[in-house]
Amino acid sequence: MNRKVCLITGATAGIGKEASVIVAKHNFKLVFTARNLHKAEETKKYIYENSGNNYIDYFYCDLASLESVKFFCSEFKKKYDKMDVLINNAGTWESKLNFTGDGFERTFGVNHLAHFYLTHLLLDLLAKSDSARIINVASAAHKYARFDFNDPDSSKKFNFLKVYANSKLGNIWFTNVLAKKLKATKIIVNSLMPGVIISELLRSLPFPIKEMTKLISKPTIYGAETIARLAVSDEFQGITGKYFDEFKIGRLSKEAANFDKALKFWDLSEEMIKSKFPEFHSADFFNILHQ
Ligand SMILES: NC(=O)c1ccc[n+]([C@@H]2O[C@H](COP(=O)([O-])OP(=O)(O)OC[C@H]3O[C@@H](n4cnc5c(N)ncnc54)[C@H](OP(=O)(O)O)[C@@H]3O)[C@@H](O)[C@H]2O)c1
Repeated sequence: MNRKVCLITGATAGIGKEASVIVAKHNFKLVFTARNLHKAEETKKYIYENSGNNYIDYFYCDLASLESVKFFCSEFKKKYDKMDVLINNAGTWESKLNFTGDGFERTFGVNHLAHFYLTHLLLDLLAKSDSARIINVASAAHKYARFDFNDPDSSKKFNFLKVYANSKLGNIWFTNVLAKKLKATKIIVNSLMPGVIISELLRSLPFPIKEMTKLISKPTIYGAETIARLAVSDEFQGITGKYFDEFKIGRLSKEAANFDKALKFWDLSEEMIKSKFPEFHSADFFNILHQ
């Protein structure tokens, strides 16, 4: 049987772990990335035991390192020559100013920049699928973003609420521009807010925030279903560039809907990747798709 391949980042905890189980139940070959190989092995067992699907695979990838993202993508391509679904799910919410190995503020680096880069490197594999999908897990927190193009990763003026919101605005801007760039292809891309969900996301935040959030949080499986639905359901064929709020089309903030800013943000993201890999040229990855 020619199984569809779904790659998900951040399956070792929270929403991604449960979403992986649901996708695996739909007979996909489920591949995930992990920065902790011990957790990866446990997760593989968990997904198998809860889905009955034995086609589970994982790769090491620390999204706080662009070098690690690059190495992961080259290893992935040695084993897989096609991908049907990419779920950019992994996320972090740092309460203090921390940096990635490349010197970017960590919440921004992991949540946006690593996924921006990873998606570019795997676009050619998605193009080989008859109906490829990219799902960017964003958040309604994007409505609280205050994006400063002179301080894109908020490292000059760090505020833990703002930096997370900005990274999720970045997920939406990335989705909106990517959908336009992929318009002539069969690849669709959408972003979503999974709900306020019980997970480990708030692990480094102050205790009162964690306790208050618990009161309004929905079960992990609820958030997982919002993601898995976009990955497996037939109803989304041809739907691209949309933002889903849980199970329906959601409303973007005025800032998130600003396409000129989204384009400017894309260019800025490209420059950030170039500061690490000068040969990186975003347009090259799209030109290949149209040849
Ligand atoms: N929970 C919510 O209420 C909520 C609301 C809106 C949006 N979201 C979004 O949902 C997504 C999933 O979050 P979650 O709530 O499930 O959080 P979570 O329970 O903390 O899971 C996050 C996942 O990302 C991985 N990860 C974090 N930093 C990484 C790195 N440097 N390299 C590789 N993997 C890394 C974690 O790996 P480890 O297991 O090794 O830590 C874990 O697998 C995120 O994009 C988040 O922004 C969540």
